[in-house]
Amino acid sequence: MAFSSKTHTSFAFSILFLFYLCTSTFAATDTISRIQPLSGNTTAISKDGNFELGFFSPGNNGNFYVGIWFRTISIRTVIWVANRDAPVSSASSPELKISEDGNLVLSNSLGASKWSSNSTRYLSSSTIAILHDNGNLILRDQDNSHNVFWQSFDHPTDTVLSGQWFGMNKITGEYQNRVSWKDQEDPSPGPFSFHADQITLSQYVSLWNRSKVYWRSGNWTGKAFTSIPGMPVKSEYRYDLINNTSELKFRWTTMDVSKITRIILSINGQLQRHTWSHDSEQWIQEWSLPAAMCDVYSVCGPFGVCKTGFRPVSSRRWDHGAWSQGCERETNILCADSNKPTDRKQDDAFLKITSIKISRNPILVKVQSMEECRSICLNNCTCTAYALINYCNVWNGELRDLKELSNGNTDGFDVYVRLAATDPLIQDHEKPARHARRIMLLVVPSSVFMVLCAIAVIYQIFQRMTSTQKASTSDVSLIVYDYSILRHCTNNFSHKLGQGSFGSVFRGLLPGSKPIAVKKLQGMRQGEKQFQTEVRALGRIHHTNLVHLVGFCLRGAERLLVYDFMVNGSLDSHLFGDMNILDWNTRFQVILGVAKGLNYLHDECLECIIHCDIKPENVLLDADFSPKVADFGLAKLMDRNYSRALTTMRGTIGYLAPEWIGGLPITPKADVYSYGMMLFEIISGRRNTELMENGSASYFPVWAAMKISKGGICEILDHRLHDANFQELERACKVACSCIQDNEAHRPTMQQIVQILQGNQDVDLAPVPLFLQGLVEGEYSSSSIHNITAE
Ligand SMILES: *[C@@H]1O[C@H](CO)[C@@H](O)[C@H](O)[C@H]1NC(C)=O
Ligand SMILES: *[C@@H]1O[C@H](CO)[C@@H](O)[C@H](O)[C@H]1NC(C)=O
Ligand SMILES: *[C@@H]1O[C@H](CO)[C@@H](O)[C@H](O)[C@H]1NC(C)=O
Ligand SMILES: *[C@@H]1O[C@H](CO)[C@@H](O)[C@H](O)[C@H]1NC(C)=O
Ligand SMILES: *[C@@H]1O[C@H](CO)[C@@H](O)[C@H](O)[C@H]1NC(C)=O
Ligand SMILES: *[C@@H]1O[C@H](CO)[C@@H](O)[C@H](O)[C@H]1NC(C)=O
Ligand SMILES: *[C@@H]1O[C@H](CO)[C@@H](O)[C@H](O)[C@H]1NC(C)=O
Repeated sequence: MAFSSKTHTSFAFSILFLFYLCTSTFAATDTISRIQPLSGNTTAISKDGNFELGFFSPGNNGNFYVGIWFRTISIRTVIWVANRDAPVSSASSPELKISEDGNLVLSNSLGASKWSSNSTRYLSSSTIAILHDNGNLILRDQDNSHNVFWQSFDHPTDTVLSGQWFGMNKITGEYQNRVSWKDQEDPSPGPFSFHADQITLSQYVSLWNRSKVYWRSGNWTGKAFTSIPGMPVKSEYRYDLINNTSELKFRWTTMDVSKITRIILSINGQLQRHTWSHDSEQWIQEWSLPAAMCDVYSVCGPFGVCKTGFRPVSSRRWDHGAWSQGCERETNILCADSNKPTDRKQDDAFLKITSIKISRNPILVKVQSMEECRSICLNNCTCTAYALINYCNVWNGELRDLKELSNGNTDGFDVYVRLAATDPLIQDHEKPARHARRIMLLVVPSSVFMVLCAIAVIYQIFQRMTSTQKASTSDVSLIVYDYSILRHCTNNFSHKLGQGSFGSVFRGLLPGSKPIAVKKLQGMRQGEKQFQTEVRALGRIHHTNLVHLVGFCLRGAERLLVYDFMVNGSLDSHLFGDMNILDWNTRFQVILGVAKGLNYLHDECLECIIHCDIKPENVLLDADFSPKVADFGLAKLMDRNYSRALTTMRGTIGYLAPEWIGGLPITPKADVYSYGMMLFEIISGRRNTELMENGSASYFPVWAAMKISKGGICEILDHRLHDANFQELERACKVACSCIQDNEAHRPTMQQIVQILQGNQDVDLAPVPLFLQGLVEGEYSSSSIHNITAE
């Protein structure tokens, strides 16, 4: 390619010039030299054609970058970018060239340098840059290939390839750093980076904001990094690590040279290995670390659930899957408005976001109620959100790593996020209520009789809504349904899910394919009473372990309640039936979930709610087998100023606490008793009371309690289960025994039960209760047990 100095004739010059044009534009070259820069559509191609170097514009938005990409595959995949944070505005005039001092330089159309290889090593006047077939761009002496001044492999962007060393120089402290792209169209440095841990020198780490480590490779065992699963067994790759006094570096090499593969730090902070599939013409992801995207710190940025009250900071980025910039408020909170007098905290409201996995590091405050928790947050402008999970969890400043869980996942909680009360969203949330008001007015003239009751109910709901409107703008969102809509949704009440003394339950599908269960209450008086209780009890509360009342419908004397549909039906069908028995793990989750739901009812709502009818039939299971306590028709709402309530006996035999049978007033401990009874059934997979052929009843809990007191815990376990976590089983058994104590004072509270089940609190083994022993010994005959009927 060099000009011969002897050619002086214009003819010869023209020929050579043409030759030069041809080689630079059409014939592939792998070299950039002083006389052969790169610009416009020209590219350099490695000798065997594996890689290509040139200008590209990932967003087709006029921003051009110099990069290297795979040449033999159909999707342009860039493995290295030179000027990642200094794009040039067109590809035609800027040049990538060898500068006077021998560095590789990108200059824009005005000749200003936008990027330089910045090598300070001794550069010769005859420097060339060569693109190699392994994807490495090497700047070296033209005549001495060992005299390398700079190479792109030493300055990775987000990708490493087979054979590429990656590490650090222990003497100078210089280290290689892989930094994610901002998004798929923007190669500038994103928030995630990956490099050798310069402090311990023992592993590699992934960081957010160059500071927060969220993933570690684990130590090198000599063959593999301990936290990279499956690394040593893969024989398609060879791994080398050098760790001497001058450097630490690591590389992987594919054994099969035809395999096209790369490891990238993705825009969402995961290290991922992608291998090209020639058959399907696409990249196949082999693994990613951390495996779950949500384990990447701040992957969704501040306020990262961009759906309510918040919009993505950059919707373009968000749409391209780079979420780390997060979201911002659509309406500024008034608290933070420095132009206003300071005391405008009360003008903010909270929006409930359900089923959220809690983000990191809330401040925990011990509180008595939801209200107290809310007011702590409301009264501190730096507080952005709260949630009540045993303690009051308060977040200050930006909320990060909220994860919205799929419907029904029990790990989720309700988080209340601070918004301006004037935020359109808060206003929107009040709409169902206004809508309901309108419907109510339409109903009134049509049927005067029953509607008086209905008005009372609805009036109560609205009373609460208005009186606590600021306090719980989003707490109440019961929808009043039109009868014709429900009839349509349930296909004219054709798909019956179940039938009980209360009425029947039908399956339906709301517009938008939301599955629901519609309960039609039966019997004028009884139905009305259950309806009122249920709406009062469930209308204002929300908990992952309580069934969610979506709305209701009044039509003449008919009362309908609309719930979220629970795919897996009720617990009893999974315990006592022959099919689909639940494994121990699921059973324990059910045990814990129900306890949490009841704890919420007893201790965390405005009024204390005693469910009064805990039994497997009233525990529903969603798609993930997360339990939801259902059927509040018999519930007793108790003002917190009273500690016990006198109530007519209700509920179901076999689950009724002795004080109740004895006609004494009840407390939430009555639910604890029923819960304990249910525990025996969940553990053993058999009914507590089994009628013998001769008409007498065998009482399982007494036998079980005796077994447990003698250490025979495993004997009471459902014999169909092949294994169980012994510690969990032991805790569940101890809880069951203490729940069925005769004296309610000896029974634990639901809150204690949750603690015990979670292993945070110890409990002694309770004695076998006398009441039950009496039952067995015939003090109460079996027939008298069965004469106790539900109201
Ligand atoms: C580059 O190629 C495209 C199409 O192949 C052509 O439209 C464009 O004019 C070329 N640009 C330059 C600077 O040659
Ligand atoms: C090269 O050095 C200059 C001056 O020190 C600096 O501004 C520039 O960011 C460096 N470029 C690269 C690619 O490191
Ligand atoms: C490298 O050697 C240093 C010093 O011997 C040691 O502390 C470190 O753990 C080693 N790193 C790896 C990755 O083996
Ligand atoms: C990111 O790091 C910079 C510098 O270390 C720091 O100033 C900044 O506050 C950090 N950003 C966040 C959101 O933590
Ligand atoms: C990894 O190595 C470091 C330093 O050699 C040591 O302090 C640390 O305990 C090791 N970590 C594990 C998980 O073995
Ligand atoms: C460390 O290993 C590298 C690569 O094998 C080698 O070039 C270098 O000389 C070694 N340094 C020391 C101090 O042994
Ligand atoms: C608000 O909360 C922050 C963080 O917990 C705390 O430092 C500050 O003192 C609180 N301000 C008030 C007025 O309570």
